[in-house]
Amino acid sequence: MRTSTMQSKILVASEYGQSHVLEFIERTLPALAEGMARIEVKAAGINPIDARRMTGEFKHADLPQSFGTEYAGVIVEINTTQPHWKVGDAVLGSGYGFTHATVIDVPIANLVHKPENLDWLTAGSLAGAAQTAMTILDEIGPTQSLLIHGASGGVGSITVQLAKERGINVVATASEKNQNYLAKLGATPVVYGAGLTERLKAIHPTPFDASIDMSGNEDATQASLASVKKGGFMGTIAGRKLSSASIHAVWVKRNLHNLQYVVDRVANGSFLWEVSRSYPFEQATQAYDDILNGHTRGKSVLTFD
Ligand SMILES: NC(=O)c1ccc[n+]([C@@H]2O[C@H](COP(=O)([O-])OP(=O)(O)OC[C@H]3O[C@@H](n4cnc5c(N)ncnc54)[C@H](OP(=O)(O)O)[C@@H]3O)[C@@H](O)[C@H]2O)c1
Repeated sequence: MRTSTMQSKILVASEYGQSHVLEFIERTLPALAEGMARIEVKAAGINPIDARRMTGEFKHADLPQSFGTEYAGVIVEINTTQPHWKVGDAVLGSGYGFTHATVIDVPIANLVHKPENLDWLTAGSLAGAAQTAMTILDEIGPTQSLLIHGASGGVGSITVQLAKERGINVVATASEKNQNYLAKLGATPVVYGAGLTERLKAIHPTPFDASIDMSGNEDATQASLASVKKGGFMGTIAGRKLSSASIHAVWVKRNLHNLQYVVDRVANGSFLWEVSRSYPFEQATQAYDDILNGHTRGKSVLTFD
């Protein structure tokens, strides 16, 4: 075990606002605590929650705050006697609100080995969506038909594929430009927006067993209320106040087995995963502007030299 100090360049914000509040600071990391690994980050996914924390929509941390919920990188230092992990290992994982930095310290208990054939961008962007999608399907439980609102983003992409793997009939919404993408994932695609309930009725005349909403908008809420069977599960992960109390809020439960499950499927090619945009870390402000737009296909990722 080495106990060196190391510099990290960290994305932070000292106030709430649009991306102009983002800045980089350099910090000397303290000696590595026991049970921790120090990771040189190679790629880190950007999630809508990062940008929504930036604006102050969510105030989950004191200011100044840092960002990022997932990463992939290389262990550069480790403080453990466990033989399972060593300096030089390529790893991935999640951690709340600190992974948009060049070097991060994470508990060894939260690490997953990066499969060799998984590129850095893919490895660094899977953790949040994977664990959220697994949580969604666990909460829904056994079901035969599922309506997903806003399924072409990170969480939706994995949710569709997990649901199909379980034999569930999936109807999913996205904008016009993402209809083919939804079909490739295995869903019956529908365009969201005005008239959604009627379009769903034409495609799926019987009530759905369950619905899950990634967008938090009124069209989706009304379509779920009209299209899901009485007593069926209706959930949202959007974290927005909805007009109906019948839509149940779902929050990600972080679980290493769930993460490993999805990583294995992406690595062996049975799940599709698209990184549609990548940005050098220095261009984080552009990345946060784009993610706030809400139309990411698959995932956006920050890259590090
Ligand atoms: N509760 C939790 O624990 C949890 C965990 C992860 C994420 N989240 C939240 O869940 C949401 C989705 O996350 P994500 O990473 O999948 O987001 P994302 O990658 O930005 O995907 C957004 C999806 O919403 C669709 N969309 C945009 N406008 C829409 C509309 N008016 N109606 C229906 N769909 C619309 C987009 O489709 P087009 O691109 O085709 O427009 C896309 O499929 C975010 O708000 C995020 O903060 C919550």
